[in-house]
Amino acid sequence: MGTVVQGHGIPALPLEREPDVAHGETLYQAKCLACHGADGSGTLDSDGRYMFPPLWGPQSFNSGAGMSRQSTVAGFIKHKMPFGADDSLSDDEAWDVAGFLLSHPRPLFQPHGH
Ligand code: HEC
Repeated sequence: MGTVVQGHGIPALPLEREPDVAHGETLYQAKCLACHGADGSGTLDSDGRYMFPPLWGPQSFNSGAGMSRQSTVAGFIKHKMPFGADDSLSDDEAWDVAGFLLSHPRPLFQPHGH
């Protein structure tokens, strides 16, 4: 029955096609940008903590995180995003917007101590 998102208990969403990154960008601008920002850097509250987490760039989840897998992040988006309107995206939309997120640079996973 597929894999489960680490720590979230959310089923992954694997599709057998490449994500349409351009379509994902259009969706991002319409449905995600208000919280996560035009540059993906998220939104800080007045205490300097993230109200909405960054999705790419230096502060975002790293390349070793479960979230950096296409099917994992697509499943998370499908079932949890847009925040407050979850489950409103189709499988195809979640897949494409996930592809758009992962088309950006993020920190490299660097294991410590070994
Ligand atoms: C109303 C504000 C809002 C909107 C709109 C929104 N998000 Fe989020 N997003 C959040 C919040 C709050 C969290 C943290 C919640 C959590 O971890 O359960 C989050 C977390 C995430 C995460 C996990 C980040 C991490 O480091 O674990 C991803 C990926 C994500 N959102 C993608 C999207 C996508 C793609 C869209 C558009 C389809 C979207 N979000 C729309 C508020 C929003």
